[in-house]
Amino acid sequence: MAAVIDSDQSAPAGEAPIQSFLVTFIIRRYDPEVDAEPRWVDYDVEMYPTERVLDALHKIKWDQDGSLTFRRSCAHGVCGSDAMRINGRNRLACKTLIKDLDISKPIYVEAIKGLPLEKDLVVDMDPFLDAYKAVQPFLISHSHPEKGKERLQSAEDRERFDDTTKCILCAACTSSCPVFWTDGQYFGPAAIVNAHRFIFDSRDDAADVRLDILNDKEGVWRCRTTFNCTEACPRGIQVTRAIAEVKQAILRGGR
Ligand code: SF4
Ligand code: FES
Repeated sequence: MAAVIDSDQSAPAGEAPIQSFLVTFIIRRYDPEVDAEPRWVDYDVEMYPTERVLDALHKIKWDQDGSLTFRRSCAHGVCGSDAMRINGRNRLACKTLIKDLDISKPIYVEAIKGLPLEKDLVVDMDPFLDAYKAVQPFLISHSHPEKGKERLQSAEDRERFDDTTKCILCAACTSSCPVFWTDGQYFGPAAIVNAHRFIFDSRDDAADVRLDILNDKEGVWRCRTTFNCTEACPRGIQVTRAIAEVKQAILRGGR
């Protein structure tokens, strides 16, 4: 239960002071050198409504238990390193405001699912990144632009893959996918999103190669259109639509 414990005396003159609350976080901890199984540990943390779950993790690490392990870098929704399950939903800790959570109840925080757990909130990203690399997520062109010129593209052609350029490889989509949880081979939504980004790029000449890769038994046909991926994406990418567009391109025999 959250309790008001303080008010911020530094609030601008004429504005009501911002109140802090005691919020309970229950974090799934796991140290492979000590624990046979993960265990849930409670922490009470003083928080302000405008702070984020990432701030809570910092306060716990700095003031209560320095062994708490998690990834983060930019702290502003750009690097994609702090995807985790917050109250059962995949989110970025740095983009999840305390005021948007129900602090009358404890807030549960655990590592994303479907990837090997290394320690506390950190998973092994190698299987995720291997799938990403397998779709050749880089521009492949068999021609050279005219000397000193750029590769031109119309606004309409750019629009075809604009949405999928926003991916920050946080793995929130892939690790929310029930097919990925149960099938260690499926490429997963993030790899397909990043294939989409190049398949529909008019400057790229390897769409057929990528469509062949994704037409494999571990490719797009494993998708069951559950929409978990689209709901999980912190960048608002229409992940399920991108997967559907790749499926249609395979059936058409090209983009
Ligand atoms: S598509 Fe969205 S959820 Fe998936 S890895 Fe990219 S940014 Fe993260
Ligand atoms: S820390 Fe970079 S996205 Fe959250």
